[in-house]
Amino acid sequence: MRLLNRDDWYEISHDLDWTLSYVEERDAFPAEWTGSGGVPKAAWQAWEEPFRISYRDYVGVQREKEAGVAGVRDALKRAHIYEHLDPAVAAISHFHMGALCMVEQMAVTMLGHFARFAPSPRWRNISVFGMLDEIRHAQLQLLFSHDLLKHDPRFDWCQKAFHTNEWGIVAIRSFCDDWLLNANCVDAALAVHLTVEHGFTNMQFVALAADAMESGDIGFSNLLSSIQTDEARHAQQGFPTLEILMKHDPQRAQRVIDVSFWRAFRLFQAITGTAMDYYTPVGKRKMSFKEFMLEWVVDQHERTLRDYGLERPWYWETFLKCLDHGHHALHLGMWFWRPTLFWKPNAGVSRAERQWLNGKYPDWEESWGVLWDEIIKNINTGDIAKTLPETLPALCNLTQLPIGTHWDRHHLECFESRYDGRTYHFDSDVSKWCFDLEPTRYAGHLNVVDRFVAGLIQPPNLAGALAWMGLTPEVMGDDVYDYRWAAEFNRDRPAAA
Ligand SMILES: [Fe+2]
Ligand SMILES: [Fe+2]
Repeated sequence: MRLLNRDDWYEISHDLDWTLSYVEERDAFPAEWTGSGGVPKAAWQAWEEPFRISYRDYVGVQREKEAGVAGVRDALKRAHIYEHLDPAVAAISHFHMGALCMVEQMAVTMLGHFARFAPSPRWRNISVFGMLDEIRHAQLQLLFSHDLLKHDPRFDWCQKAFHTNEWGIVAIRSFCDDWLLNANCVDAALAVHLTVEHGFTNMQFVALAADAMESGDIGFSNLLSSIQTDEARHAQQGFPTLEILMKHDPQRAQRVIDVSFWRAFRLFQAITGTAMDYYTPVGKRKMSFKEFMLEWVVDQHERTLRDYGLERPWYWETFLKCLDHGHHALHLGMWFWRPTLFWKPNAGVSRAERQWLNGKYPDWEESWGVLWDEIIKNINTGDIAKTLPETLPALCNLTQLPIGTHWDRHHLECFESRYDGRTYHFDSDVSKWCFDLEPTRYAGHLNVVDRFVAGLIQPPNLAGALAWMGLTPEVMGDDVYDYRWAAEFNRDRPAAA
């Protein structure tokens, strides 16, 4: 029997749909899940796949990718690459695995929702492949971490992190619960495919992969690159969804994209900004976080907005200013609150590193160098205790990130909203705006500090908070170079020695 060419049968197979007779359409496809409210059913017939693939083709391509990753994995195990990595570079993979592996697992669920509830049969069909992609991503990162667990217990956090209350993980989980697990298909496609995957994961999976390769972490780089080939493909599913929504409810498209862009940006300031501008050895950095953001996210996002007739978000000027600062603020905060991390942060402020930072961010010294000088002074006088926290920072009720970390050190204002008898606090006017748009979406949640104040964390001190976050001594963060980097500043100030 002769096999048909794909194009002979593809049109029939991808459009598999029929008129329901045993159940009502609205029961099988509730608007709460499909997200098609406001868009007529017939409009979804225009949803065209941005790429065409059959199961046979998919499996063939993925098999090749798996063979590539497996080959590199075996070769690296034999070469003992991990054991020879710079500890700051190794910390990037501890951080990445804990912060992102379970996000991939949540994406499996999100694409599973699409495969079942998306308002177009073509979209449902193609989401099965996206779901398989995300299973591969979660499993690959678990496998990679399992290989390395014998070298460092922090790789256990690849699976464990999302089962703890570590504050940074709570921030990521808050975003993912909101947009990957609980949003309807249309909103999730815009927020995750178009905004997060099309823009931000490029930075984590392409730009960081390039830095990792340069820094000798070949296995991690190879893993990230292999994952990104899938992301680049299924992220395109957001475009036909946006195209249809623009014809029927453009205000909703604008709102979903503007809210999710800001929330994703705040998270990636913490995840990618710190790894690129502080943990990657200075001589190995390809570009700064800001440069990557401008090239990979800003240009691309502006083009998408323009092509589909959307406006830039009202907060665009604020966002551009935050590009110069927010991740420096988060880095300083994360290093200072290092016992609350499950990896060892690199301060990254030696003389050579400061020179690089000042070259890339002309205001860095004025805003952040002065604070690091104080820390360096305390290290060099042996007063490490002064460089460690005794309390917790105030946290935003939207992003769950510390207040005072989105811009420079002069923008510490706490924004507030009253809703249903309670005051909510925000790190910026943009986060407050997101909350005020849909207060019922966020209200009622207690952030880590709210829980602390409410007496839900016992004993009510830093040690109690660390235990509540699941941080144990063998993974708890400390300066990755054991403060040795500060010594070069000591020689110039013998009086302080
Ligand atoms: Fe993924
Ligand atoms: Fe994805």
